[in-house]
Amino acid sequence: MSSGFIHHTVLLEEVLTVLQPKDGASYFDGTCGGAGHSVAILKASGPKGFLFACDADPDAIAAARERLAPFAGRYELRMTNFADAGAFVPAGSCAGAVLDLGVSSHQLDTAMRGFSFQQEGPLDMRMSPSTPLTAAAVVNTWPVEDLTQLFWDNGESQGRRIARALERDRKMRPFETTRQLAACVARANPRAGRAKDPATLVFQALRIVVNDEKAALNSGLQAAWDLLAPGGILAVITFHSGEDRQVKEFFREEARDYDLPPGEDDFPHLRQPRPARGKILTRKPIVPSESERDRNPRSRSAQLRALVKL
Ligand SMILES: C[S@@+](CC[C@H](N)C(=O)[O-])C[C@H]1O[C@@H](n2cnc3c(N)ncnc32)[C@H](O)[C@@H]1O
Repeated sequence: MSSGFIHHTVLLEEVLTVLQPKDGASYFDGTCGGAGHSVAILKASGPKGFLFACDADPDAIAAARERLAPFAGRYELRMTNFADAGAFVPAGSCAGAVLDLGVSSHQLDTAMRGFSFQQEGPLDMRMSPSTPLTAAAVVNTWPVEDLTQLFWDNGESQGRRIARALERDRKMRPFETTRQLAACVARANPRAGRAKDPATLVFQALRIVVNDEKAALNSGLQAAWDLLAPGGILAVITFHSGEDRQVKEFFREEARDYDLPPGEDDFPHLRQPRPARGKILTRKPIVPSESERDRNPRSRSAQLRALVKL
């Protein structure tokens, strides 16, 4: 761990069981992070397996470069959004792809990145420094209605109260730091016996919008799917219900054996038959074992789903 980049890889054995990496085949890791899944895939597909890997975060790329060094010649690593995988991974070339969504422990634990309400830092929250929007810009400039909707969409029932409190406070002093924001949210949304910190869902909502995570996931699922060969497996780990819903919808659509006219609900008389493009391998999501949850509390919300290309 010489780079100081610490991340406990989630559902590692389970991802290997799903992907069953084979010698000589190619794989894609769209969220390389500390390279936990990447290294395991390279080991399991040795001596000739190949890995295409990317991450949007320069710190992750630096850590991954170090950890992948022993596999020189067997991987290609890019700093890019997984939505753009098609720019460096040939279509139809891979036997498996993994997306382990969200943020790494390294990102959460690095105060200067601004992801955590538990540490004082600038309100940044960007995974890639090349993207324009910061969390500070969102909380200081968005109208109350938009902030309310953002928080509601992320399951925060007190979204309007919080948005109004932000508007009041920012008139006196713009938000600059994580603790300043967390304190305002806590005043507007007292803990009231809930298990989570009152700022949890607000910070998550901000991170999602700052990194345009919904759009990236929609494009990323399609990009990862396109680079698979027939028989290839897409494995996706999600950490909250919004992400999981997107993955489930994508999987269902690929597993259906019909199309629907654009914008129509699923009524039998509207179905236009076509062959299914995928088969769902996980009727229920795979979740971490009790011992993994004890070892790594951040794994608790993880859910793994897998889809095989037909
Ligand atoms: C949970 S960590 C992955 C950890 C990794 N699987 C490991 O074992 O070390 C998620 C990583 O995905 C990256 N990430 C999130 N969204 C991304 C996107 N749209 N494109 C590329 N990387 C992304 C983050 O920067 C972070 O490093």
